[in-house]
Amino acid sequence: MSKNIESHLVEERTFQPPAEFSKEARVKSLAAYRKKYAASIADPAAFWGAEAAELSWQKPWDTVLEWKPPFAKWFVGGKLNVSENCLDRHLTGARRNKAAIIWEGEPGEKRTLTYQQLHREVCRFANVLKANGVKTKDRVIIYMPLVPEAAIAMLACARLGAVHSVVFGGFSSESIRDRAEDCEATVVVTADGGYRRGKVVPLKENVDAALAAGADSIKRVIVLKRTGSPVTMQPGRDVYWHDEIEKVSAVSPAKGFDSEHPLFILYTSGSTGKPKGILHTSGGYLTGTYSTSKYIFDLRDSDVYWCTADVGWITGHSYLVYGPLSNGATVLMYEGAPDWPEKDRFWKIIEEYHVTILYTAPTAIRAFIKWGDQHVKKHDLSSLRLLGSVGEPINPEAWMWYHKVIGGERCPIVDTWWQTETGAIMISPLPGATPTKPGTATLPFFGIDAAILDETGKECGPNEGGKLVIRQPWPSMLRSIWGDKARYKDTYWKEYAGGIYLAGDGARRDKEGNFWIVGRLDDVLNVSGHRLGTAEVEGALVSHETVAEAAVVGRPDEIKGQAVVAFVTLKSGYAASEALNKELKGHVAKIIGAIARPDDIRFTAALPKTRSGKIMRRLLKEICAGGVVKGDTTTLEDFSVVASLQQSGNED
Ligand code: PRX
Repeated sequence: MSKNIESHLVEERTFQPPAEFSKEARVKSLAAYRKKYAASIADPAAFWGAEAAELSWQKPWDTVLEWKPPFAKWFVGGKLNVSENCLDRHLTGARRNKAAIIWEGEPGEKRTLTYQQLHREVCRFANVLKANGVKTKDRVIIYMPLVPEAAIAMLACARLGAVHSVVFGGFSSESIRDRAEDCEATVVVTADGGYRRGKVVPLKENVDAALAAGADSIKRVIVLKRTGSPVTMQPGRDVYWHDEIEKVSAVSPAKGFDSEHPLFILYTSGSTGKPKGILHTSGGYLTGTYSTSKYIFDLRDSDVYWCTADVGWITGHSYLVYGPLSNGATVLMYEGAPDWPEKDRFWKIIEEYHVTILYTAPTAIRAFIKWGDQHVKKHDLSSLRLLGSVGEPINPEAWMWYHKVIGGERCPIVDTWWQTETGAIMISPLPGATPTKPGTATLPFFGIDAAILDETGKECGPNEGGKLVIRQPWPSMLRSIWGDKARYKDTYWKEYAGGIYLAGDGARRDKEGNFWIVGRLDDVLNVSGHRLGTAEVEGALVSHETVAEAAVVGRPDEIKGQAVVAFVTLKSGYAASEALNKELKGHVAKIIGAIARPDDIRFTAALPKTRSGKIMRRLLKEICAGGVVKGDTTTLEDFSVVASLQQSGNED
């Protein structure tokens, strides 16, 4: 294995920060990064305290950190209002009339909200929530399409000190019910529908079904009219956003809340079937998202910053709402699919709004590659100056395509590693300062003591695979799993003693200290006693000219423990064949080693994915094991994909 890692290294290419970018960047060189990083690790309280001091506090904190592993309190004694930091503090100068949100709906409507306008809408909606019984610390479910009102609802909760729990609009009614029950929410904010690929997603109907089946704590449903689709309004329970907003004033004082006041709960999948309610609090979370947005996206007043994530995911929380707005940035928000009505929708948007920063996911990038460069070439993307990637390891081929075709070879790419639990970006290049390299998230952010440990807790040597951990607390870390402290301790803090956070990812560091994320440890296979990252095999497969996308899972094998099964989608113009099957197996064996040679290759038209673009490996494993697909599959992008994979059997 290590020999193969070495051979990968020979081919690695380093991209130095463009000189003209470094002139304006906040950190200008690798040496400057290293100096600042070393100081931040030696004295994290000094670094984070200085970052937090750039925010508006109604009462200063007494102590930066109180750490009783695994429970952290940041900026203890301090009071702030998160929505004030995202809105009010930008109203005293020129930013008041600057666009906060530029929005485009899937059918093509356009709206712009200045900071002043956004502030007014948030204040009004905070008063609507209040009038509908929402009190400090009450939980509010937000189940919305990607419209400005989704962000308005989040910020209105923050203004009141209520706790939002956004449920992604692609989730099922059961998911809404489970989450509402778990956090005992009292109010749901939703819409009559949202648009996705020209169809209306029946959000209100899903809420009705959820409430018919349980979630008795919900007393009020506030419905935004988005699509005009008919909905049933239950008297005494359901009210319209537009009716309620007319009844209230636009004055809503931003009360200061304790730094550790809960801000939101966001549910994410764990190793069991029950999603975990990840709890984030106010001062620390805002400091983390503010600081990383500032340094990593290098936000300037001239930027139009587009994060393509939905607010239903942590990326939509941290880098569509709280991080950029606390920086006073202009955020672009697009409701719909990238291939609607044509496969050039993203490029059209970038050209029209002169987007300068694009933050998206590798899965999207690979789809674009598959669709072909002709869709990109129709548009002028010269406004772009910085690109970002998040959510999974980006394969070097996709990175290079992003760099060349989208970034015109001039935009640094920030490959950002982080998690729902970490709240903010943890490992990423710093544009203008640190070099980038296809496939690696490179170096930790200031104050983040990331390391890779072996089974015994010893730090791994260069290119030795191990478990990714964070050895010091950081402000935007999760505080607990809602209602389940035991699970919080077990999942993240049990593996190693002494307050070391277990990320659940496998990784290695190269000789320069760059972090290479292999993938979730639960996706690491054990083949004949050898550890094998599924992401590694996938990377090898997609490096073949015929392959658009690949997903690799293990299936039980009598001899080897686990056999490697690869699901492969081909680029347009290539057809599945016995010869190609053989060739791909040989290709993987050549790139990684015989151990990684797939036992089966199954060609498929598409891979089953969640709406956020994550390949559902659990499903693939079940298909491989011949089992019937069980559990909640409502996050699938396309059910027919599962059905056809099940029918096709092993084509090997
Ligand atoms: O495995 C890592 C992968 O996504 C996981 C976190 O998923 P989630 O909580 O849904 O948050 C996604 C958005 C932050 C991680 O444990 N991951 C995320 N970013 C990267 C990544 N893997 C490799 N490189 C990344 N840049």
